[in-house]
Amino acid sequence: MRVVEHAPLQSFNTFHVAANARYLVTLESPDELTAFLADSRFSGLPLFVLGGGSNLLLTGDFAGVMLCPRFMGREVLSQEVERVRLRACAGESWDGFVDWAVAQGFAGLENLSCIPGHVGAAPVQNIGAYGVELQDVVERVEALDLSTGAAVSFTRDDCQFAYRDSVFKRNPGRYLITAVVFSLAGKFAPRLDYPGVPAALAAQQDEGPLSPARVRQAICAVRYGKLPDPAVLGNAGSFFKNPLVSQSLADSLKGEYASMPVYPAAAGLAKIPAAWLIEQCGFKGYRAGDAGVHEKHALVLVNYGQATGAELWALAEKIRLAVRQRFGVELEPEPNRL
Ligand code: EPU
Repeated sequence: MRVVEHAPLQSFNTFHVAANARYLVTLESPDELTAFLADSRFSGLPLFVLGGGSNLLLTGDFAGVMLCPRFMGREVLSQEVERVRLRACAGESWDGFVDWAVAQGFAGLENLSCIPGHVGAAPVQNIGAYGVELQDVVERVEALDLSTGAAVSFTRDDCQFAYRDSVFKRNPGRYLITAVVFSLAGKFAPRLDYPGVPAALAAQQDEGPLSPARVRQAICAVRYGKLPDPAVLGNAGSFFKNPLVSQSLADSLKGEYASMPVYPAAAGLAKIPAAWLIEQCGFKGYRAGDAGVHEKHALVLVNYGQATGAELWALAEKIRLAVRQRFGVELEPEPNRL
């Protein structure tokens, strides 16, 4: 267990916002949890489990414990014609894991390529992109219950996955995810229906047979075409969830704005792209000091350099108000705010 007091967090969040944590505690193995729970320095303090910091907005110093699991390792548990089972520890880079799986020809993870963050954070918000969500490939999530220190295992149903949501997201600070077990169909069933993906495949030099590696390459090209690389420009991906609205509100908005995209959702509901609502309110490319809205994608807030978390949050509030006033739709922020 490594403990740093008054730890600077700028390099621990992909917005690159400057802030300190009272304690930054790194665990190299799940066995270290017992010592952590017994350490009186940490008792009674708020606790936040930090993965890659790619879904986090720090609006000030954190007067608690940032707990960083750095559990490493990935393995093939079983490989049969019909099914491949993989296990990855929480501290592994998500995209490093996807790359490793795809390089071995395993299919099912390729549409989730190039998403920043760690394996342990992926189930928390049920990461999803280009027609695939984490819940489609998860068999089991292994965790430690921080209220008791006991090891717990969640089946996919136990995880209560929903759009950008899970039992872990709804119980912040309760569980420390240690590893994820994946179950992939042995047969490659490419999902290429998302706009932009077929064109990116067609543009590839390599015209060999379609493979998970080629799909991964196409997905990365689509992502990098519109989403900024956090290593270059601070951001946390989508800042808002795509709102679910009643079908009747969607119908009446569609009557007024014929070009508005609407996606089907659960009975009686419809999903509207938040990016479209934000762009209509004139925020695409907007900038207030160093806090801004990405010029290529209206759903991504960016830090051009020295923006504080409070400034980024103020911009988010301004956007929410504008969308509420114009469309009567409530936008829900996606990143955790501390
Ligand atoms: N659009 C605009 N203006 C823009 C960008 C998009 O009007 O500036 C409209 C277009 O009509 C477009 C639609 O919004 O067709 C959807 O845009 P996009 O395909 O880029 O997807 P998204 O709904 O904005 C979601 C996820 C992304 C994920 C992509 C691809 C959420 C909150 N975001 O974005 O996830 O990569 O789909 O599947 O669901 C993330 O969570 O950080 C993230 C990047």
